[in-house]
Amino acid sequence: MITLPGLIDPHAHLREPGATHKEDWDSGTTAALAGGFTQVLAMPNTQPPVTDGDTLALALTAARYKARCDYAQYLGAGPHNMDELAPLADRSAGLKIYLDQTYGELRLNDMGLCLAHFARWPRHMPIVAHAEGRSLAAVILLSALYDRPLHLAHVSRREEILLIRAARQRGMKVTCEVTPHHLFLTQNDLSSGRGEVRPRLATAADRDALWGKLEVIDCFATDHAPHTLAEKDGPNPPPGFPGLETALPLFLTAVSEGRLTMDDLIRRMATNPRRIFNLPEQAETWIEVLPDESWEIRAENTLTRCAWTPFEGWQVRGRLRRVVLRGSEVFRQGQILAPMGTGKNIREGRVENRE
Ligand code: NCD
Ligand code: ZN
Ligand code: ZN
Repeated sequence: MITLPGLIDPHAHLREPGATHKEDWDSGTTAALAGGFTQVLAMPNTQPPVTDGDTLALALTAARYKARCDYAQYLGAGPHNMDELAPLADRSAGLKIYLDQTYGELRLNDMGLCLAHFARWPRHMPIVAHAEGRSLAAVILLSALYDRPLHLAHVSRREEILLIRAARQRGMKVTCEVTPHHLFLTQNDLSSGRGEVRPRLATAADRDALWGKLEVIDCFATDHAPHTLAEKDGPNPPPGFPGLETALPLFLTAVSEGRLTMDDLIRRMATNPRRIFNLPEQAETWIEVLPDESWEIRAENTLTRCAWTPFEGWQVRGRLRRVVLRGSEVFRQGQILAPMGTGKNIREGRVENRE
């Protein structure tokens, strides 16, 4: 049995408000604990999206009653809300900017609007971008021009990881995350509807380039994006995979195969996200793992509401046994012990403004 710090997922879609048939603050944070995560940062592409004080309050009220692990909520960059967001920044996980088409209507097509967000958002709070290919190059330029640290979500291609490495070698303040599905799956692995995800699953060469440039990858983020099987197998399959409950066993398997060290895992799933997103240490919080236990991933044993996984039937090695959050046992051998409302808003009580 080995002990690791509570894991941090800087990129999860918990779907509340608006799509609680896919997930809500209860089921999403339950899945988080069952995956070894004690802090999750929730994305703003809900219905309505979290783009102002009212919608932030809506999401945080649901979270306060339901969350079973600690959390913070992102704000979404829209075409008209740059002035409204700055005063809310300290109460958020950070600002999320969508530069490419994905699930939900939050998207900034106009470079001028994007630039206005960079100019107004407070410098000490994180900015995260969904930016693929050429959008990635554009947003790196904006971060350099405005001297704002930038975190790049779900990097998936060789050209992107090379671009980020080059930017970093020139001293630019960019960090990035990669998802388990872009590290373990390729475009040949899933049938069309279920395989829909943004960024799309890439080639084996892209996947291998990510593993080959591991030193450029700051975080492993799940991009837990639950949609029901009926939706995935239906006429307009929405993009996204659940990931909270499968990330740790997949990476523990990689450790057992010698593709990753345990230290590599801890840095990318705890230490680096804590530093990049300025998250507090959680007192008396840890997870316990059985590194040699082999088992099979099966959706029927998961706790996410979406009830499927792109890793169905995968044999993995390494199993979460127990999670302790602030001194209380919150998960043990498949059972969630934390009541709803156990989770704390990571940003609450933070009235500082360091600018
Ligand atoms: C995400 C979702 O479903 O909210 N989907 C996805 O394919 N990754 C949106 C996103 O992260 O881009
Ligand atoms: Zn995205
Ligand atoms: Zn996402």
